[in-house]
Amino acid sequence: MVVEDNAFFPTKILFGAEKLKTLHQEKLPGKRALVLITNGNSMKKYGYLDQLCNELNLAQVDFVIYNQISANPTSDEIDNGAKFAKEKQVDFIIALGGGSVIDSAKMIAIVLTNGGSIWDYTCTDKKPKTVINDPIAIIAIPTTAGTGSEVDCAGAFTYLPLQEKVAFKDERLFPAITVIDPTLTYTLPSKLTAYQGWDALTHSMENLINKNENSDATNIAKTVVKLAGNNLSKAVKNGDDQEAREKMAISSYLSGIVINLSGTTSMHALECAMSALHPDLEHGAGLIILSIAYFQFFIDLHICDEVFVEMARLLGAVDANSPDDFIKAIKNIHQKCHVDNLKMSDYLISEDEFPLIIAKARRAMPGNFVNDRYLLSDEDCLKILKQAYR
Ligand SMILES: [Fe+2]
Repeated sequence: MVVEDNAFFPTKILFGAEKLKTLHQEKLPGKRALVLITNGNSMKKYGYLDQLCNELNLAQVDFVIYNQISANPTSDEIDNGAKFAKEKQVDFIIALGGGSVIDSAKMIAIVLTNGGSIWDYTCTDKKPKTVINDPIAIIAIPTTAGTGSEVDCAGAFTYLPLQEKVAFKDERLFPAITVIDPTLTYTLPSKLTAYQGWDALTHSMENLINKNENSDATNIAKTVVKLAGNNLSKAVKNGDDQEAREKMAISSYLSGIVINLSGTTSMHALECAMSALHPDLEHGAGLIILSIAYFQFFIDLHICDEVFVEMARLLGAVDANSPDDFIKAIKNIHQKCHVDNLKMSDYLISEDEFPLIIAKARRAMPGNFVNDRYLLSDEDCLKILKQAYR
């Protein structure tokens, strides 16, 4: 399949250290904001919430805070957030946090102006309703580097009654403004830095092995593989490494643009099905767990040997001449980031669940399988999951 090189990107990006402190100088998209944060305490503890509140006071914008978003957000959290936002009569949303918060802001923006539940518009068990009314505007302020949600028009959440994680995309969901201030990622623990940075790297690696041809996406994805491949372990080793943090923040948003242009593959569908069934599993950790078996499966098919060799070189193995060098390169990154011992069994995933994981992945994210250069059968998926299992 050839994807035309069309592009639509309406987000204004403010990038750089301490950029959050300039937000009040921007023309903000409303007068009363819903500030969305996670149910943890890091935004308060590290002073990021205070920084944002100060900016809103300087901009003379009224605001209310909603802090009920979990790491794997659910439809209930989104619906309750929308109810709160409606009661408080907000006219835009500011998401301060990781991908879960930014994704949730987008979904809340839909429910707020269209009513009902987010499941009505995204459901897989009946015909979804159309999002008729424009969602309210969003400002994204990422405090992690990985999901790319700060620059894309999609969001994901879990619908608990079916234990399915679905993704929803609408061009009206691009953030109006994104503040990418790498200093906000300095306090991110090394483990989460590794998980989220691996997510950014994976978005671009999946792009390079998928069948969608978009030259802009390919060029950007190669840049990301080199940038993230050479800086992720540095950011994990030393959270205060200003340059590594900056490069990972760039990798995250460039990879988000790659997703907009060309999508991800079945690895994302399989991982999202795993973390929907096991909400303790962080998205990036699930991708790390699947990565070697997944990529090895495609290497064994010999359908894009040259792409794997090039990715190995971009990851730092300059003398790479075989697709197996790519596997060595990603194992090396896992070791340097201390994530090479992650196991499905750590998250209580059992091999008996594999057929269910595969069925849920296909149902919730069928398009990801279509993006693959080779259409995986259920048996193929089972082989990958069994190979990845420890
Ligand atoms: Fe991802």
